[in-house]
Amino acid sequence: MPTALAQASPNIAFVKYWGNRNQGLRLPSNGSISMTLEGLETRTSVSYLPELTQDEFWLDGSQTRGQQLERVTKHLDHIRSLTDMRSFASVESQNNFPAGVGIASSASAFASLTLAACAAAGMDLDPKSLSRLARLGSGSACRSIFGGFVRWFAADRHEESYAEQIAPANHWGLVDLVAVASRQHKAIGSTAGHALAETSPLQPARVEDAPRRLELCQAAILARDFSNLAPIVEQDSNMMHAVMQTSTPPLLYWQPATVAIMQAVREWRRAGIPVCYSVDAGPNVHCLCLDDAADDVARRLEAIEGVLEVRRAGAGGPARLL
Ligand code: PMV
Repeated sequence: MPTALAQASPNIAFVKYWGNRNQGLRLPSNGSISMTLEGLETRTSVSYLPELTQDEFWLDGSQTRGQQLERVTKHLDHIRSLTDMRSFASVESQNNFPAGVGIASSASAFASLTLAACAAAGMDLDPKSLSRLARLGSGSACRSIFGGFVRWFAADRHEESYAEQIAPANHWGLVDLVAVASRQHKAIGSTAGHALAETSPLQPARVEDAPRRLELCQAAILARDFSNLAPIVEQDSNMMHAVMQTSTPPLLYWQPATVAIMQAVREWRRAGIPVCYSVDAGPNVHCLCLDDAADDVARRLEAIEGVLEVRRAGAGGPARLL
């Protein structure tokens, strides 16, 4: 039976992807840089079965229908079109982290799905080709093919937009402490959000300035320079939220606790603690810090009113077959 099992981890973007120059191909408006997260995993198995009359997709033990299934089928169709495989597939995905804690599962889901679906169809692709393919399922998934610190290149053509590792996981002891401010499911997901980005008059300025942020961020990572990393990470997050908040309709993902955490983090950094914040398309706050400071920062976060939970992850490894 043509079957394969793969594992991938989510990632947190330091310079964020928001908006596409080509929505269908998920060609991003700007490049991005992320850290793949250790210990958080999606495992996905793909079995092509001649007896199936359509694809099936099981997520954390429940069979999915509608949009979730359609998105997986579309991705499998693309992979099948590159091979001789004509059978439908049974896909099973398991996350070892709960949904709704502010850790995007689409990156690890589509990175592991791409790897398993290609391997089961007999395709042995290099990481760059896998990254390109994963991007078609979920933009940020192209970064989760790689471990450590990763950069995704924006381009006008499918062939030229993929991710690459800029430094391995053991390069720098950075920790992501995710302060959970709400477990409610977000109203507007990232696919719909990307489509709204260009309705904000601030998006062109954000995109135009992206090369500067990317260079500063990459240089700070390579030099392990936290004091240069922190302001650029926070500025990039603020710029994305400025675009979100000024699009039509506006997207306001922050809750009162989100703002309280951002304020506290800035105060702690002024007092000398190496920590900065980054917020994705949701209310939870990713607090990046050096590992020596992580216990102290986690305790401080837990003491803030409205913080439900703090999750911890260092830099993790690449997507791989099991
Ligand atoms: O890959 P998507 O469509 O889930 O978009 C990810 C968007 C952000 O998480 C907000 C930013 C990023 O670069 O990961």
